[in-house]
Amino acid sequence: MKSSEGTRGVEAWVGERLPVEKMNFDSMVQKKEVPIHRLSWAYYLGGLALFFFIVQVVTGLMLLFYYQPTVSDAHASVEHLTLHVPGGGLVRNTHAWASSLMIAAVFVHLLTTFGMKAFVKPRELTWVSGVLLFAVTLAFGFSGYLLPWHQIAVNATKIGLQTIEELGAYLPGALAEWPRLIRETIQGEATVGQATLSRFFSLHVILLPLTMAGILGLHLLSVQLHGMSAGVDETPRRKEKFFPTFFLKDLQLWGLAFMVLFLLGTCLPFESLFTYPLFEPFNPNGSTPDGIKPEWYFFWVYYPLELLPFWVVLLAQGVLGGVLIGAPWIFRDTNRRTLRLLALLAALYLVVMTVFGEQVYHLFKD
Ligand code: HEM
Repeated sequence: MKSSEGTRGVEAWVGERLPVEKMNFDSMVQKKEVPIHRLSWAYYLGGLALFFFIVQVVTGLMLLFYYQPTVSDAHASVEHLTLHVPGGGLVRNTHAWASSLMIAAVFVHLLTTFGMKAFVKPRELTWVSGVLLFAVTLAFGFSGYLLPWHQIAVNATKIGLQTIEELGAYLPGALAEWPRLIRETIQGEATVGQATLSRFFSLHVILLPLTMAGILGLHLLSVQLHGMSAGVDETPRRKEKFFPTFFLKDLQLWGLAFMVLFLLGTCLPFESLFTYPLFEPFNPNGSTPDGIKPEWYFFWVYYPLELLPFWVVLLAQGVLGGVLIGAPWIFRDTNRRTLRLLALLAALYLVVMTVFGEQVYHLFKD
């Protein structure tokens, strides 16, 4: 009796979040409306992240025609593709730019949906799937960085994997062994080598895309089922039809994003932004280059790791992960004003660490 009540409870919960009766064209597309208010611009950010993800899939598939996932040929194949294959440099540069732009769009989308309180009932699944998409997006960046097998990438990956192992020192009992096992599983051999490259490659081109497709499907389905959240406290002056009005505006923005991406892809090599040479092949006898850093989207955790005791950063990350996943329940009764303030503070922290992280580091270290 008890268990059937429990099952009915779960069914009712899921039914409210994923209402099957609304799974039709009429409810999900024709009747959907988008509120118009001062924060309406934020409704375009998820679509923008989606656009950059599509670009990543298309350019990534093109790169696969030439890329060789072996330690002997990876670097040479990327060099050949960039310098000798017609359009190869453009495709590779676009893949690099779109990865950064997608991650930036996901960061802002996370903060705006948080500030607009778009996570409350019935959108808990939209939010939780979003948090998972955020993690998968960062994992794409981490795994892709190693693939060209250059000096910086291999060394940065070694440091990243070492950091995972160090977590063990802070965990109790049998759990302490887990981070080492995870590191060994990802790394595949005694040091970062062929097994690691093969694993990062399969993660980057098979496992993560499949995971992303599944979670993104759930995310987009729940967005279409529930329509856009109110976003602000005031009743909107008016609403516009999702289809075709909002949809066409979305496409206009995608067109603009395409042009910006094309300009960046043709005119500004992504690697030219780095002070260290990203094109040197990995040399196992070479020393770890000075000033080695992860990609910019990890600076918010990298600089605290450089400045603070490891356990403080670890604790903060654990709390942050828990708060993000639990947001729909933790902030259920928090008003939108407070949430917007929290989102602004988080944005400020991210900008300071990403743009001025080096200065912050010297301010406290020197
Ligand atoms: C690959 C990454 C992601 C893609 C492609 C994506 C895509 C989308 C799209 C197309 C929408 C509808 C338009 C909009 O409201 O912007 C949306 C809505 C939403 N997303 Fe995401 N998203 C991603 C990541 C995230 C993350 C990291 C979060 C937060 C943790 C999140 C939470 C939400 C929420 C709560 C909504 C509903 C907004 C509303 O009803 O007003 N998404 N997403």
